[in-house]
Amino acid sequence: MARLLFACLLLLLLLFQTSNCYPCAPSSCGSQTISNPFRLNSDPLNCGNPLYTLHCEKNTSTVLYLDSRKYYVQAINYDNLTIRVVDAGVKKNECSSLPTFSLTYARLGNSRSAYGMFIITVRRLDYISYPYTWFQYKRTGPRWFPKYKPLPLSQMMIFINCANPVNSPLYLDTGACLNGGKYSNVSLSIHSYVNVGGMKASDLMEKCSLERMTLLPVKDYKNMPFKEIHSLLEYGFELSWHSSRCGSCEAICYIDDSNRTHCTGWQY
Ligand SMILES: *[C@@H]1O[C@H](CO)[C@@H](O)[C@H](O)[C@H]1NC(C)=O
Ligand SMILES: *[C@@H]1O[C@H](CO)[C@@H](O)[C@H](O)[C@H]1NC(C)=O
Ligand SMILES: *[C@@H]1O[C@H](CO)[C@@H](O)[C@H](O)[C@H]1NC(C)=O
Ligand SMILES: *[C@@H]1O[C@H](CO)[C@@H](O)[C@H](O)[C@H]1NC(C)=O
Repeated sequence: MARLLFACLLLLLLLFQTSNCYPCAPSSCGSQTISNPFRLNSDPLNCGNPLYTLHCEKNTSTVLYLDSRKYYVQAINYDNLTIRVVDAGVKKNECSSLPTFSLTYARLGNSRSAYGMFIITVRRLDYISYPYTWFQYKRTGPRWFPKYKPLPLSQMMIFINCANPVNSPLYLDTGACLNGGKYSNVSLSIHSYVNVGGMKASDLMEKCSLERMTLLPVKDYKNMPFKEIHSLLEYGFELSWHSSRCGSCEAICYIDDSNRTHCTGWQY
């Protein structure tokens, strides 16, 4: 059976074809439907796309492993080609529960800012490295001079621990959720903050360290209490799996208003 999976992957590579090896009847995990290109690891090896393998725990929780790191799948949307996941460390109604893993944009695809129609990039093999991305390309501008912009589905959130209190709009105090408790027995007590929306290396204050990074839904987090931010961590963040339909695009692959994918350049 392993040979069959290998043959399937090889076929995908040779044909630059990602949609699926063979479509099979959808599977389910609890109330979630797992359809092509997704497959469960318990499905026959020739079903779905091996790059989009999910796991089912006790017929209740669907699990996505990204670099062997565990995320619970909250929703798969087959119209707009997204999947919403939560880090396995984040617990419902426990604002002191943190993501177990760091996840950064770099792990989730290259977006190459705005593009005119003449720019050619070689991204033919991107989908193998990045089956999931944190953005989807949309077409903007007039038809005769289209531009393609990556629309972010999720944004970066950074957990920062500091030896001294910090007073900066970039540092959002986590209040009682992460201060005290766990860290209270540290002689130099630690002050815990989060940053949402990004900061530069030069914004990192003295005696502060980056603890962890994760993704959140795109929203305005200004003045939002940490508890509320945590409830959005519990809701999970969206990733796009549109790459499964773009393997044969030479350049940008964008999604139109009808949720269909198109190549901007050659299609192999
Ligand atoms: C899994 O759960 C679904 C819905 O809760 C149910 O319809 C289905 O029969 C269950 N499958 C197994 C193998 O237990
Ligand atoms: C995809 O659809 C879901 C459910 O309707 C929605 O919550 C989400 O914002 C949509 N995402 C994008 C990128 O359109
Ligand atoms: C705090 O931790 C130190 C060792 O790290 C230990 O000796 C001390 O008893 C702890 N104090 C309390 C109040 O738990
Ligand atoms: C595109 O996907 C969104 C989100 O699921 C859905 O609401 C919308 O109806 C879809 N549009 C088309 C034209 O299918």
